[in-house]
Amino acid sequence: MKSILVLNGPNLNLLGKRQPEIYGHATLDDVADLCRAAAGDVTIRMEQSNHEGQLIDWIHEARTAHAGIVINAGAYTHTSVAIFDALNAFDGPVIEVHISNVHKRESFRHHSYISPRADGVIVGFGINGYAAAVRQICDLINAN
Ligand code: DQA
Repeated sequence: MKSILVLNGPNLNLLGKRQPEIYGHATLDDVADLCRAAAGDVTIRMEQSNHEGQLIDWIHEARTAHAGIVINAGAYTHTSVAIFDALNAFDGPVIEVHISNVHKRESFRHHSYISPRADGVIVGFGINGYAAAVRQICDLINAN
């Protein structure tokens, strides 16, 4: 059976508690429920870490364990060449998600190291963006 890795970067463990005016009141568990509901028969592995190396290790594992990756790398989006390199070592589809509209925010959030590798980018749709990303990845992997 096919599976997808849904990867979340730093501070997203505090989803629902930190800056709810920007990120909303839903928690990462709510995001996991949303992703599983959107995935149908496809298995979802949901992970979050505040540590760059851990995120990279999971991307490496995905090379053999998962057909696609949905990633919200949090602030590492704007800083991490290492996550970009790791994603380039993964062959399947990658969709980048941001809960907030990063383009409406500080200019340092306008650049993403992930986007040049991503097959699609979803920003500003709140946590619904994860469900859209999972549906899109499922379409892509089921087409192969
Ligand atoms: C975020 C946007 C990033 O700029 C920020 O550092 C986050 C969350 C989002 O989902 O909107 O931690 O990725």
